[in-house]
Amino acid sequence: MADQQELPEGTLQNLLDQETLKWVFVGGKGGVGKTTCSSILSILLSRVRTSVLIISTDPAHNLSDAFQQRFTKIPTLVDGFTNLYAMEVDPTVEHEDVGVSDGMDSMFSELAGAIPGIDEAMSFAEMLKLVQTMDYSVIVFDTAPTGHTLRLLQFPSILEKGLAKVMSLKNKFGGLFSQMSSMFGMGDELAEDALLGRLEGMKDVIERVNMQFKDPDMTTFVCVCIPEFLSLYETERLVQELIKFEIDTHNIIINQVLYDDEDVESKLLKARMKMQQKYLDQFYMLYDDFNVTKLPLLPEEVTGVEALKAFSSHFLTPYQPASSGDPVERLERRISTLRKQLNEAEAELERLKSS
Ligand SMILES: Nc1ncnc2c1ncn2[C@@H]1O[C@H](COP(=O)(O)OP(=O)(O)O)[C@@H](O)[C@H]1O
Ligand SMILES: [Mg+2]
Repeated sequence: MADQQELPEGTLQNLLDQETLKWVFVGGKGGVGKTTCSSILSILLSRVRTSVLIISTDPAHNLSDAFQQRFTKIPTLVDGFTNLYAMEVDPTVEHEDVGVSDGMDSMFSELAGAIPGIDEAMSFAEMLKLVQTMDYSVIVFDTAPTGHTLRLLQFPSILEKGLAKVMSLKNKFGGLFSQMSSMFGMGDELAEDALLGRLEGMKDVIERVNMQFKDPDMTTFVCVCIPEFLSLYETERLVQELIKFEIDTHNIIINQVLYDDEDVESKLLKARMKMQQKYLDQFYMLYDDFNVTKLPLLPEEVTGVEALKAFSSHFLTPYQPASSGDPVERLERRISTLRKQLNEAEAELERLKSS
């Protein structure tokens, strides 16, 4: 009992209480419930904050499915709310955003090729810049599966490196850049200036965001997983990477947990529950300093604002399975289930013997 009291609370209340929080990343393996959890978290935050923005950076966008409303790359008010906005962005670069001539464009692509990831990093930075000017009280990211997200978190440092590289090239080759730009027919409008301007314009944003992402008062990463081996394994990898990037993480959501709600008789379900328990125990052992929130697997999908709101109660109060009630009642139910199973087994045995 003493042990249990030392564990952090098994809810996400801590995120609602943390008033300084500005960026909340929600990540994990595909299909575990990232979109569902980030949507619910944004709904809960909208009750305690002036304005909330949820951004999906997963190319397989499904905020639209969760909220049953179309979203675009422009923040849109979610139906039924006055302070909750949603947007879906594509983290891969859009070349029309470069906004300069073909010559410049191809030169930019050349350069981008020399610095892996800078393309994506630039568009991510531009998105952050936009979002920052909009002054949301808190921004929730529904991220893409793990590998993608980890790259996204490295963008600020990739950009800083890219900028340094271009600067040193400029110093080294001086006038060469301007010669090239006239070759590309850009006249006096120096390509170098256009490029440097674009990169430098990002510098402030990048530095600020980089600092904010590493500040545990402002940024946290919520890991969503399910009680299975691969998910446990991937969560540990994710947590290690986050530690490496100095990004705070202290909330784990274990979704799709099976509960013995209806005195399950199915052998398959029983076996799955046993398996889940094994991994749940491991999660609790590994992450005893995390707020670990368990969410039940529902018989149906969690789509639409009403379903999301209904499910949100499990974010704030630990789930109580129906069967956890009166112990006498529970035992009685269990005995009757076992009796039925015994009868079935006996009947089966009779059948086998007589055939
Ligand atoms: N606890 C749950 N019980 C039942 N269905 C769930 C649960 N959590 C998520 N779902 C459903 O599973 C599907 C995948 O969830 P989603 O949040 O989109 O995952 P991800 O964003 O990680 O790919 C969705 O259809 C969602 O409604
Ligand atoms: Mg999703």
